[in-house]
Amino acid sequence: MTTDLNTVPFVSVENMMRLTHETGIEEALAEIAGYIEDDFRRWPLFDKTPRVASHSEVGVIELMPTSDGTEYGFKYVNGHPKNTKEGLQTVTAFGLLADVDTGYPVLLTEMTVLTALRTAATSAVATKYLARRDAKVMAMIGNGSQSEFQALALHKICGIEEVRLFDTDPNATRKCAENLKGTGLRVVSCATGQEAIEGADIITTCTADKQNATILTDNMVGAGVHINAIGGDCPGKTELHRDILMRSDIFVEYPEQTRIEGEIQQLAQDHPVTELWQVITGEITGRRDDRQITLFDGVGFAIEDFSALRWVRDKLRTSNRFDMLDMIADPDDPRDLFGMLLREKQRMAAA
Ligand SMILES: NC(=O)c1ccc[n+]([C@@H]2O[C@H](COP(=O)([O-])OP(=O)(O)OC[C@H]3O[C@@H](n4cnc5c(N)ncnc54)[C@H](O)[C@@H]3O)[C@@H](O)[C@H]2O)c1
Repeated sequence: MTTDLNTVPFVSVENMMRLTHETGIEEALAEIAGYIEDDFRRWPLFDKTPRVASHSEVGVIELMPTSDGTEYGFKYVNGHPKNTKEGLQTVTAFGLLADVDTGYPVLLTEMTVLTALRTAATSAVATKYLARRDAKVMAMIGNGSQSEFQALALHKICGIEEVRLFDTDPNATRKCAENLKGTGLRVVSCATGQEAIEGADIITTCTADKQNATILTDNMVGAGVHINAIGGDCPGKTELHRDILMRSDIFVEYPEQTRIEGEIQQLAQDHPVTELWQVITGEITGRRDDRQITLFDGVGFAIEDFSALRWVRDKLRTSNRFDMLDMIADPDDPRDLFGMLLREKQRMAAA
């Protein structure tokens, strides 16, 4: 990829899909997981802030910024659970990577597909460090947009062989089962959440509902299970019964954000949690024994998006899956922006 500073590579949805297929979906998940692990290992050097959320009665719009001092990234993302009934998606996103030295953008990209990839890669990283080593069966509760990505990431990165699906909408389960055909995963469609969790070593909840839902009750979670609770990611939007949290060792991305948005909004503000990055660096032990219940209370943090943006930027070094956008004004004299504007008027008059 060659670029000058004033035009910015833009990855459209079509190009993101092609980039993903050229890499291979599972390989892309594994590569992004690698970028996420690398960035979690250098966690302390990042600028970190809870995401900036603008809530309405029906959803949320969020900005998620971070920087490692060399590059700066942000994602724009929404969450509107009612959207699918109107033929729109619950989650859409786009994002940008910029050079800290100049402040100039170096990448603008769709992030709806990329968010699904990075969210699944993040679950897989958490699962790799927290689940029992012999885990082979996962339950996937909530079979919407994120679900196939979640299942495939755990298949590729954690060696999961069977996925047990449940959704309150049987059409979503049918869609998910159909999409996972031929992936090597044994897919079992279930009629209830209880049926789905039977025999599961890992339970991933990824449902969309703007309320404190109870996707899992306490009696559904046995000893030794690892839970990825992904769908509860807003104030007043949770998936697990509080009693499960009280029996679990809880792992989070960034506590300041998770205490606002995650399952742990149900607990006291000082309830002990462990930051996942410290498990990855080996500072803190994740799973101590085979009976412990581990819970990854994943809400999605800006550093994961930064990792995904870095992955795309690096891919473009050897791929032409982008368009150049005339995005940064470029006056000949950098202080004569107005003159540049006037000259354009002359050109328009002459045309
Ligand atoms: N943690 C993160 O980083 C992260 C990233 C992306 C999305 N999310 C969240 O994950 C959730 C799912 O996202 P999506 O894009 O797959 O949404 P989606 O709307 O495509 O799918 C959600 C599915 O959940 C099902 N569902 C709703 N209530 C249920 C219940 N009680 N039991 C079983 N199934 C139920 C719906 O029928 C639907 O099929 C959203 O809440 C979203 O905000 C989190």
